[in-house]
Amino acid sequence: MTAWRRDLHAHPETAYEEFRTADKVAAILQELGLEVTRGLGGTGLVATLNGALGEGDAIALRADMDALHLQELNSFAHRSQLDGKMHACGHDGHTAILLGAATALAANPEFAGKVHFIFQPAEENEAGARAMIEDGLFERFPVKAVFGLHNWPGLPAGEVAVHEGPVMAAFDTFDIRIRGEGCHGGMPHLGSDPVQAAGQLICALQSIVSRNLDPQKAGVVSVTQIEGGHTYNVLPEEVVLRGTTRSFCPEVRDQIEQRMRQLAESICAGLGCHAELCYSRRYPATINSEAEARQCLATLQELPGVGKVHLNPPASMGGEDFAFMLEQHPGCYIWLGGGSDEHCHGLHSPHYDFNDSTLPLGANYWIGLVHRLLGR
Ligand code: NI
Repeated sequence: MTAWRRDLHAHPETAYEEFRTADKVAAILQELGLEVTRGLGGTGLVATLNGALGEGDAIALRADMDALHLQELNSFAHRSQLDGKMHACGHDGHTAILLGAATALAANPEFAGKVHFIFQPAEENEAGARAMIEDGLFERFPVKAVFGLHNWPGLPAGEVAVHEGPVMAAFDTFDIRIRGEGCHGGMPHLGSDPVQAAGQLICALQSIVSRNLDPQKAGVVSVTQIEGGHTYNVLPEEVVLRGTTRSFCPEVRDQIEQRMRQLAESICAGLGCHAELCYSRRYPATINSEAEARQCLATLQELPGVGKVHLNPPASMGGEDFAFMLEQHPGCYIWLGGGSDEHCHGLHSPHYDFNDSTLPLGANYWIGLVHRLLGR
């Protein structure tokens, strides 16, 4: 698994361009004698293993294969060989873990039913899970439940976390275009200033979480980009704000969008400008089903080599497109501790590297889960 993982790390591929990665994954799975279906959602693939104990339920285990647009700053031998691309979220590790589990299960398929191993493209930003679903993933491979995992730096290696409900937030993006009337910077009374409207709006947007949302319910509104103006003495015609919002409850998500629209339109109108909000719903919240979360919990509690099992720690405001699979089927997405010492860098850091010491635990978890759910 370490050799696979490091090879993938050295050859990162981003959304829907996971050609080499998919070739490698398919070759390993075919070698094991699994039935491999390629080209789902572009570069996605599914490998099916039939249990030796006859008919039974089908479950899916999912790994993501894509890398990030990021320049790696590590210098070890397996660092990225491509400028500007990097496995900084550990999807190289998730892929190696699932290949390891498939290898072990193929050698000893002591279960009834089927396991579908899903290797998806484009988890980062581009909704590869949804692309596979739209391509007929679950019609072609019907399953009773779906399972995913993510490495989690900050959680000590050997420890794991299971949530019996929300685990990752819904992730949306927005663009607010504020149009004014450009004029001389020394004679602002001759136009309407979109820069000052943008400034007031940015502050007002922070009132949504602090003044509108139920304080018991989580939400985030972050303006992450401001674009407008070119020089010192001209007030521009237009300013564009961009950013992201996060939430767990659908009502909170609706409320954030609605309040953003009201604030943008009314504040900008009051200042003589015109605002247009383009709000884009990207990923739903990742919400585990309770029964499946309990099965994962029980598997982990019985697994040798597992340290502390954290039940229902605070959910993350990060997004995850496994959410689309959990909208279709019950299932559970767990966090696998990635390490908490000073050598351990966070997800999406240019210094990040997947912690290879956690590969066996990840694979053993998948194997244990299959035996728990489909074994006799
Ligand atoms: Ni990730």
